[in-house]
Amino acid sequence: MKQLSITLLSAAILPLAIVQAQTCSAKYGQCGGVGWTGPTCCPAGWTCQQQGNNIYYSQCLPGTGSSSSSSSQTSTTTRSSSSTTSSSASTTLTSTTSTSTSPTSTPSSGTGNDRNPYLGAQFYATPYYASEITTSINSFKAAGDSADAAKAAQVQSVGTAIWIDVAAKIPNITTYLDDALALQKSTGQIQAVTFVVYDLPDRDCAAAASNGEFTVANDGLTHYKAYIDGFHAAFAAHPDNRIICIIEPDSLGNLVTNLNVPKCSAAANTYKAGIAYAIQQLQFPNVALYLDAAHAGWLGWPANLQPAATLFSQVLQSAAPATIRGFSTNVANYNAFHAATPDPITQGSSTPDEESYIAALTPHLQALNVPANFVTDTGRNGVQGIRQAWGDWCNVKGAGFGVRPTTNTGVANVDAFLWVKPGGESDGTSNSSAARYDFHCGQSDAAQPAPEAGTWFDAYFQALVKNANPSL
Ligand SMILES: *[C@@H]1O[C@H](CO)[C@@H](O)[C@H](O)[C@H]1NC(C)=O
Ligand SMILES: *[C@@H]1O[C@H](CO)[C@@H](O)[C@H](O)[C@H]1NC(C)=O
Repeated sequence: MKQLSITLLSAAILPLAIVQAQTCSAKYGQCGGVGWTGPTCCPAGWTCQQQGNNIYYSQCLPGTGSSSSSSSQTSTTTRSSSSTTSSSASTTLTSTTSTSTSPTSTPSSGTGNDRNPYLGAQFYATPYYASEITTSINSFKAAGDSADAAKAAQVQSVGTAIWIDVAAKIPNITTYLDDALALQKSTGQIQAVTFVVYDLPDRDCAAAASNGEFTVANDGLTHYKAYIDGFHAAFAAHPDNRIICIIEPDSLGNLVTNLNVPKCSAAANTYKAGIAYAIQQLQFPNVALYLDAAHAGWLGWPANLQPAATLFSQVLQSAAPATIRGFSTNVANYNAFHAATPDPITQGSSTPDEESYIAALTPHLQALNVPANFVTDTGRNGVQGIRQAWGDWCNVKGAGFGVRPTTNTGVANVDAFLWVKPGGESDGTSNSSAARYDFHCGQSDAAQPAPEAGTWFDAYFQALVKNANPSL
């Protein structure tokens, strides 16, 4: 961010008032963080505040910052919630010329990672999501709103990812693959079935709403490997399906920025070992893997890009020769893919949307020989300007469905826009007495009352339908 050119020496001979004015960071400028060598003071009336748990980035923000000065421990920007989850992207694909370099070629592994798995396929829509939506169609009808009931019915045929967020759902993998295969046979159209692998021990280590069933302390890695073996067996029995996995949303992001949270640092080696195991076990000619790379407001900050790429590379090296297709971004989040103008909450960021984040991360990955192909969740990003802070992630009010799943992304190394989070499934409960309550779900920009993560949230789904952009 704005680093002023004035040197300390010359500052010393300037009148004090001028020194103050010239040596402090600008409003919304960076003023601290690991590795930061620029000014650490802010203009009068502004204070230097750490961004969530991001030890790599502090920013000059208005006010005294009494409640959160530079070492606040709030949880970082983002997360997906436990069971299902969501995201968003932008509506403005037309002007997305980007830029980003051609897809990094993946090592010739003979796996499904060699090509864009969504090309030539339909995005598989699950009967489960369709049945959840039926509840809301009935609500619209009961209110006499047949127009929105018809729009909701359209969402029943939109493909979404399938969250296998507890080991008890492993048998469902086979059910879904069988169903997709039957559809493939009856329609002659390949069905791309996307699963979210989401059950690491001490999952969601910097937040609460999406805590998982396994813990590091209770031999979580062994349980996790058994869970991954369940995917392996189901995939091995389905060589004629087109399968995609999104691996562990937010997990490596937490290891980049939240190692100051004891639960994250204690889980770091288990996360890395578990993810490497997943990559190794899920190498099939008909399976493509995307490792989660959080989103623009989390790893997009200049100080986080290289550490993120380095961590991804380390994990891949430990899994080699197994490999991945690329990375997922914005899972369960609300960021635009291409923002015509930056959302005010992104103040100061050079990566205010997913497109710019992907373009910034890509060269770091390529330099390390890491496959730099992407998918971005556009499931809930139809409306921008609805969050009070970039880190707000829970059932954000005013959200709308975003661009429907497509391979027409306008960016060479973005394979597809997906609906990873099935919109309408809650991100977390707003009941502050509940064990999995996370304060983000009680904030004023979070829709309330909200049920537990993964549970159908009828009112929220109805709003996503009404606010969809492009409209349904
Ligand atoms: C998983 O399978 C069980 C048992 O068939 C079923 O009751 C449940 O609805 C399925 N869940 C999902 C998310 O498909
Ligand atoms: C909130 O959670 C507490 C603890 O589980 C429960 O006793 C209470 O009934 C819940 N309140 C509502 C409104 O669901």
